[in-house]
Amino acid sequence: MEASSTGEVLTTTDTEDGDVHKNVVSLQARDPKAQRRTLKRQAGIECSLLSAEELGLDPQEAFDNSAERWNGTRELPWNRLRYELTHDLIRRHLDIERPRVLEIGCGNGYETSLWINAAATITASDISVKMLETAEQRFETLGGGAKVEFIHSDVMGLPGRTGGPFDLILFHNVIEYVEDPLASLRSIKQLLSPDGMLSLRHINRYSNPLIPAIYEDDLETTVKYLNDAIINTSFGIEAMTFTRGQIKGLLNKTGYSVSHSYGVISLTGYMTNNEPKYDPAFYAQLKEIELRMAETFPYRELSRFSLVLAKKANA
Ligand SMILES: C[S@@+](CC[C@H](N)C(=O)[O-])C[C@H]1O[C@@H](n2cnc3c(N)ncnc32)[C@H](O)[C@@H]1O
Repeated sequence: MEASSTGEVLTTTDTEDGDVHKNVVSLQARDPKAQRRTLKRQAGIECSLLSAEELGLDPQEAFDNSAERWNGTRELPWNRLRYELTHDLIRRHLDIERPRVLEIGCGNGYETSLWINAAATITASDISVKMLETAEQRFETLGGGAKVEFIHSDVMGLPGRTGGPFDLILFHNVIEYVEDPLASLRSIKQLLSPDGMLSLRHINRYSNPLIPAIYEDDLETTVKYLNDAIINTSFGIEAMTFTRGQIKGLLNKTGYSVSHSYGVISLTGYMTNNEPKYDPAFYAQLKEIELRMAETFPYRELSRFSLVLAKKANA
């Protein structure tokens, strides 16, 4: 560990990350908006897509606008696989029989609903009203065992809105959008039971440059993503992406202890032909391969998402 000129403590011992990315975490921790500007300046890049704020949208509005599209695409095989893999990997390590589950940024609740028969209680929360509405509709048609509660809240407001504690908190693909990642992790910690598990999934920064090249022959964006951790997203807003080492650094700094980490979708996201993925036998084989790659070097380093499981450090 070392102290930066700004007083932020950086994790430098994690060999998964090159030095190039070290300061990104520090700046992000202090002021995400300043960091976006700095990164753009450093990279000499004018982003073609504006942030929600620059567009005059609040983030909730940006996610509200995408709720229908999001809901309509979660069960496509290549998306479903991401959720099933994550679920299987968490279950490997969760030793609580009937956990009290909280999902923060639940979107349409697809992933939350995978816990319906295993959880004692389910609390699904999101900053977007429209996303939450689709989640509520999903649970209406599901029935199922657990008591379900929905909360409209920003991650920062949750400790005042729900009591907890929770045995399992899912924070999946949300840290990319929050104003202050460190503060969000501290807020979540207040809700975690002493032996509880935080499951954090995030876009793997290292995978970013591959996507525009593979899908759109767009080498300009590939170069941009080599330099810049900020990517354009289908929500019409930018996302801040991290390497797994950076996420571990943020977790360590906010009082968590990381127990396991995996790559999620190391192959499927780079297979441009979606047709075979609808075939159940092909899907099953793909899932087996993905589970193997999830923990195998070097494949997991280029996975589209990373999954990091953590507990409270003093537990
Ligand atoms: C990329 S989607 C992920 C949804 C779901 N977790 C999944 O993986 O399918 C991000 C979700 O986080 C929500 N979100 C964004 N910022 C948030 C914040 N500050 N607090 C709570 N939820 C937020 C959005 O409304 C959206 O539903």
